[in-house]
Amino acid sequence: MSDLLRAPAELKYAEELDWLESVDDGPKPFAWRLSPKMVRLFVLGSERADGLEREIPQKWFGERSIVERAIVTLASDRGLLLIGDPGTGKSWLAELLAAALSRNSTQVVQGTAGTTEDHIKYSWNVSMVIAKGQSRESMIPSPIMTAMETGTIGRFEELTRSTSDVQDALISILSEKYISVPELDSDNIVFAKPGFSVIATANSRDRGVNDLSSALKRRFNFVRIPVVTNKRSEAEIVRFRTEELLRRHQIELDVPPTLLDVLLQSFADLRASAAAAGSEDEKLESALSTAEQIGVLEDAILHSNFFGERELTARALASSLVGSLARREPEDLAILNKYLHGVVEPRGKEEGGAWPEFLEGGRDAIATLS
Ligand SMILES: Nc1ncnc2c1ncn2[C@@H]1O[C@H](COP(=O)(O)OP(=O)(O)OP(=O)(O)O)[C@@H](O)[C@H]1O
Ligand SMILES: [Mg+2]
Repeated sequence: MSDLLRAPAELKYAEELDWLESVDDGPKPFAWRLSPKMVRLFVLGSERADGLEREIPQKWFGERSIVERAIVTLASDRGLLLIGDPGTGKSWLAELLAAALSRNSTQVVQGTAGTTEDHIKYSWNVSMVIAKGQSRESMIPSPIMTAMETGTIGRFEELTRSTSDVQDALISILSEKYISVPELDSDNIVFAKPGFSVIATANSRDRGVNDLSSALKRRFNFVRIPVVTNKRSEAEIVRFRTEELLRRHQIELDVPPTLLDVLLQSFADLRASAAAAGSEDEKLESALSTAEQIGVLEDAILHSNFFGERELTARALASSLVGSLARREPEDLAILNKYLHGVVEPRGKEEGGAWPEFLEGGRDAIATLS
């Protein structure tokens, strides 16, 4: 596992999932590997009241009701559609659920303008077809078809980016629960086993959720994932990811908690000013999501580790913030500059702390970029 760039959740948490399975005496729908309560516990972490011998860490941060509704949906005969802004953790939640239910989160179809029906049904191994003709052996099942055959979860990322033909093909899969293979004379229907379901994600900033056909909408339960605006949960997500990053790179670096506060505060400030902005030009192009915040911190940590003094500094953080958020020149740079001088500078004078160094780092980064 350690020699994978990024292990899927079922590998990363394999030991924990084994343990949960061994203590799980709750009823399991279909062939689920865990009962619904254990799935929830795996995703949201354990509490004292759960009375477990070991602590299960929280992995996805958000409302309990959202996770419960998602789990209930997967036991019903409708698919699950997670909708939300970019970087709100939709794909991560989908991965965790698939890992907990099926121990397989990698049966994934990626929705793009180029996704075809073959990608969600099946295609053919051409050289085998030439040698032996069309048969079950020369058929290449899609990840969704494999999920059907094994009674597990198939995932469809960015559903709304695929064309309507592809979406229509999904309707029949979700309602009839089989795929027919007209090219074959016999054995030409692939049926879904109990436990099969689909978790799709859709980005609410892409046009299109509303354009889904009503037939497809009816076959999904929509679960909306809100942007985390609660600073405390956001801090937890950022801390969780940071620890993971440090572990993964085996970095021993001091990340002062005050700098995490600076990061959270600066995102909160920038979001507030985006909300108050009159036109698009006065708004950063970035959605300022939690994921973006993690990205800023990651870059700063790596930079400090490779080129710094084994300690994360306010300067490195500011420079990473400017570097990742300044995408449009000159608009984004102007917004960041205004932020530094209008908000950070007075705050530095008043509160001191890490803010003066943050200001200086930000200013220098802007100077290099403009
Ligand atoms: N609520 C959350 N709990 C835990 N981690 C989160 C949460 N929100 C975001 N993250 C982190 O942010 C990263 C990006 O999240 P993810 O890729 O799941 O977002 P997404 O909603 O699928 O975004 P997109 O619409 O751009 O695909 C994840 O790796 C995860 O670590
Ligand atoms: Mg995603």
